[in-house]
Amino acid sequence: MALLLGAGMSTAMAGLWLMPLMLAGIAYHRYETVDPESRVLDASNKIREEYDFIVIGGGSAGAVVANRLSEVPEWNVLLIEAGGDETEISDVPGLAGYLQQSELDWQYQTTSSESSCLAMHNRQCNWPRGKVLGGSSVLNAMLYVRGNRHDYDHWERLGNPGWSYDHVLPYFIKSEDNRNPYLAKTPYHGTGGYLTVQESPWHTPLSLTFLQACHELGYENRDINGEFQTGCMIAQGTIRRGSRCSTAKAFLRPVNLRKNLDIALKTFVSKVVVDPTKKQTVGVEILQKGKSKRVIRVGKEVVLSAGAIGSPQIMMLSGIGPPDHLARMKIPLVHALPGVGENLQDHIGLGGLTFIIDQPFTFTKERFQTVPVALEYILNERGPLSTLGGVEGLAFVNTKYANHSEDFPDVQFHFAPSSINSDGGEHIRKIVGLRDIVYNTMYKPLVGSETWTILPLLLRPKSSGTIRLRSRNPLHHPNIRPNYLSHPEDVYTLIEGIRIAMQISNSTAFRKFGSRPHTIPMPGCKKYAFDTDPYWECALRHFTFTIYHPTGTCKMGPAYDQLAVVDHELRVHGVKGLRVMDASIMPMIVSGNPNAPIIMIGEKGADMVKNAWYHSKGDEDIDQLHEFADSEENQTVE
Ligand SMILES: Cc1cc2nc3c(=O)[nH]c(=O)nc-3n(C[C@H](O)[C@H](O)[C@H](O)COP(=O)(O)OP(=O)(O)OC[C@H]3O[C@@H](n4cnc5c(N)ncnc54)[C@H](O)[C@@H]3O)c2cc1C
Ligand SMILES: *[C@@H]1O[C@H](CO)[C@@H](O)[C@H](O)[C@H]1NC(C)=O
Ligand SMILES: *[C@@H]1O[C@H](CO)[C@@H](O)[C@H](O)[C@H]1NC(C)=O
Ligand SMILES: *[C@@H]1O[C@H](CO)[C@@H](O)[C@H](O)[C@H]1NC(C)=O
Repeated sequence: MALLLGAGMSTAMAGLWLMPLMLAGIAYHRYETVDPESRVLDASNKIREEYDFIVIGGGSAGAVVANRLSEVPEWNVLLIEAGGDETEISDVPGLAGYLQQSELDWQYQTTSSESSCLAMHNRQCNWPRGKVLGGSSVLNAMLYVRGNRHDYDHWERLGNPGWSYDHVLPYFIKSEDNRNPYLAKTPYHGTGGYLTVQESPWHTPLSLTFLQACHELGYENRDINGEFQTGCMIAQGTIRRGSRCSTAKAFLRPVNLRKNLDIALKTFVSKVVVDPTKKQTVGVEILQKGKSKRVIRVGKEVVLSAGAIGSPQIMMLSGIGPPDHLARMKIPLVHALPGVGENLQDHIGLGGLTFIIDQPFTFTKERFQTVPVALEYILNERGPLSTLGGVEGLAFVNTKYANHSEDFPDVQFHFAPSSINSDGGEHIRKIVGLRDIVYNTMYKPLVGSETWTILPLLLRPKSSGTIRLRSRNPLHHPNIRPNYLSHPEDVYTLIEGIRIAMQISNSTAFRKFGSRPHTIPMPGCKKYAFDTDPYWECALRHFTFTIYHPTGTCKMGPAYDQLAVVDHELRVHGVKGLRVMDASIMPMIVSGNPNAPIIMIGEKGADMVKNAWYHSKGDEDIDQLHEFADSEENQTVE
């Protein structure tokens, strides 16, 4: 979500002038000596003619899939990633916002809208996505959240056997190495997995104020990834020793010596090649700089893990998708699947909902763009730069529209001790794409003030959108139409969420510090009185804040569901040898940040592939595979 946060906060903490110092410091003091994992070897210059499995996209899911499939020693696996490797900057949690608009970011934008993103340039919201090994897990705010039990039970009820909460929980635990001993001993968490999960080593005093305020409103401080979701928590994140633990670091670096895994960086997939008569996947077409187009053959299966934008785009470029659209694009139809690119769901909320306090407890430019703060991180891996994209607290709350007798909250809060103004206007306004008049009117007057925010976001939107090709050129970004706030209930629920955020500010805990809402109205909304329903609706349509969770564009469902793209084993309906494993398979977006659920999808999907190809051999062989994997890990990690 990195919202004001991943972005704003971080900027607040380290101005651009600190970058050279950070880089030098990290390189000399930490990188080579402290970080034991070696980087992956780039195989882009020695890709073979054929592999058993080809995984497209080395992001949150793809990195997991490539690791798990290459646990089988007799399978050759190729992982293809359009971006390069991570950098020293992407390792620093507090600098998350700096990666947006960089070469590590695909830099997508939504199409111009009349009813949302109105405060942004050209009424378009920016959609950062990782173009780097590790994918969006390299750009994200690292928050570790699993969603709600009911999400998965609902997926199963939609016709997807094996996806209930009880079925998916073991796969969350399989990946996990939770460093919080209290959580680790509960039945909901695991230790010893590849993915390190822990709290930031550093917090502002306001993080506790946030928990106290939640408590006053009747919400318990609890593990929101445990038995119940409703409540508040100091966020846990995918970090390791104070630095980002992307899926590349977690799942690929430890196995970089496996002879049967090739990882091709800076290699772009332009389509999956499917025999149109047999409907059998035969290979993958790639583009590499300065080289001619080439097809790599596949012996067993292709796994598409290019994310909620990339996967439907590649499907359509391959002739699999809505037939009328493909005809318009003059792409020969290989298999009609009208659901490809449909069902685009995202999490949005009100950006820039700002509160002011009197105490020096928040991130301000003056306080955090300092040499001591940088050194604290470089030498000790602690301090403000180790925060999770600036987000300290999470809460799952019930508006009046939620069923209060169920544990199924409808709004999530991200609490951050900072706001749009905290970096003095240097960076966050740019990555959000905020128009100057909005920044100058609402946030510039706050520069130097002590400000904090809650991002109230809608967990289960009723509005959904589409991804469509802009052209048949694979290098063109597709058209992204999220249709934010097109369903009126989304607006009503979010307004109630804003009201609960106002109550948090008005709690005894926050009022102790003089907390009050920032009341300069949004340009374009001045005609409505502040804090009325029409005012908040107007503000939402202006500062529509995505926290970057697009999902659902190749959704999982049974064959009788016209819009289903993959079945419950993630196999593309009607096309042999092709599966999808990433954010796009979610039939309904999960009620929480999706990175951990997507890693779970990779884990579960890889097991399905193993089961399919080892079916005849029985379970013993699968156990042996796991033993092989364990012994190999002992040779290669640390
Ligand atoms: C700024 C930001 C902050 C976020 N914060 C959080 C957070 O705090 N917590 C959380 O849970 N979630 C967060 N998310 C969301 C989460 O990170 C994503 O949902 C998740 O990483 C998506 O995983 P994926 O595997 O579906 O896709 P990605 O991780 O995006 O992986 C797709 C991969 O495929 C590659 N690819 C795409 N097309 C091609 C092609 N044609 N050829 C070759 N390779 C290709 C891409 O380069 C990329 O590496 C955030 C996202 C962003 C952008
Ligand atoms: C609320 O949830 C309870 C418990 O699951 C259920 O019995 C009840 O029917 C629900 N109420 C509504 C209005 O859906
Ligand atoms: C804040 O809380 C006080 C006491 O709990 C209440 O009297 C007051 O109306 C509240 N103010 C707002 C703006 O909600
Ligand atoms: C790998 O290491 C773990 C922990 O040190 C140990 O328990 C396990 O037996 C080792 N496995 C093999 C196959 O050597």
